[in-house]
Amino acid sequence: MVAREIAPGIHWVGAIDFDRRLFDELIPLPDGTSYNSYLIRGSEKTALIDTVDPTKEFELISNLVKMGVDKIDYIIINHAEQDHSGSLPMVAEFFPDAEIVTNEKCRDLLAALLHFPTDKFRIIRDRETLSLGDRTLEFHITPWTHWPETQITFLKEDGILFSCDLFGSHRASSDLFVRNEGEIYRSAKRYYAEIMMPFRSSIKGYVGMVKDLHVTMIAPSHGPVYDRPALILDAYEDWVSDTVKNEVVLPYVSMHGSTAKMVDHLIAALIERGITVKPFNLSRTDIGELAMALVDTSTIVIGTPTVLYGPHPQVVYATYLANALKPKAKFASVIGSYGWGGKTVDTITKMLDHLHVDLIDPVIVKGEPDEATMQALDKLADEILHRHQKLNIV
Ligand code: FEO
Repeated sequence: MVAREIAPGIHWVGAIDFDRRLFDELIPLPDGTSYNSYLIRGSEKTALIDTVDPTKEFELISNLVKMGVDKIDYIIINHAEQDHSGSLPMVAEFFPDAEIVTNEKCRDLLAALLHFPTDKFRIIRDRETLSLGDRTLEFHITPWTHWPETQITFLKEDGILFSCDLFGSHRASSDLFVRNEGEIYRSAKRYYAEIMMPFRSSIKGYVGMVKDLHVTMIAPSHGPVYDRPALILDAYEDWVSDTVKNEVVLPYVSMHGSTAKMVDHLIAALIERGITVKPFNLSRTDIGELAMALVDTSTIVIGTPTVLYGPHPQVVYATYLANALKPKAKFASVIGSYGWGGKTVDTITKMLDHLHVDLIDPVIVKGEPDEATMQALDKLADEILHRHQKLNIV
């Protein structure tokens, strides 16, 4: 890779990972990702903002060597997770005089995760500044974006915000800046859904804070740089708001076709009532797409057969994930078929304890759905419409 200038004297020096397809052994990365690191040269001091994933540490060092960087005064660590901090030991070895600048919580995590010695740190507090001569770094401690130690760094004179994970997107692109806004909007929404959504209430405050900074550019540590920050700030403002859409997300599995017939009938009934439906067959769905659909939906209907005594394991996985991601949905229900009994509805509803949803009467049938089942599904669609109307979103 090659270093590139995002503004005079400020270079992107990170790594693009076109091949990576999974993060945390959990999150699909259909478009790869990048680990962005930035070098800021002031009239007196030079600072490096974040490092890169340890698999790419030689790329970061190579970028710095090719630029002729022989001294770094400060290495700013905004977040301790290893995709940004994992190359710190190598960078610190190359630049032994550099001070590691971060907050106390982040230092403790770095010591635990990397066994990094604690005597090289300069600990900063919220809103503290650090001069590079003609340029000033201002640190904002922003817990839970998405770990407890996270911070963001604002370069005051240039108006550039180095936001680390916040506002990022998992997208490997040769574009330094956002050039296809629709494409990056989708990637950033997916990223928000998978990483940031559980912390929506904290992030709501940070979006307002960043808006007040009047930033000219947002340089996250994943994905392209926003040279039109309104794109991502307006998107986040929408995603973290309490507003939901006239939508039903319908994750389901069917083993012998009974639950599938019910799902098909409910989809048609919701469409007839003017409600957008997003079904996800969990046997083949990309879980990131499901997470993204959960960002705005007002209602979640889970479709499942009963396996042994409870829901299908694929449904258990999706329900666990939805509960952990804490979307702002208002209503939930369950539909499906069983053979001889079980506690499917009970098991699923107990798993939704992080969501603030009203449970709409489930439709569960023994064996093959019949006419009475279809009428019950029509009634469920009517009830969903009624609830959406009360929210004034229809
Ligand atoms: Fe990109 Fe939380 O690490």
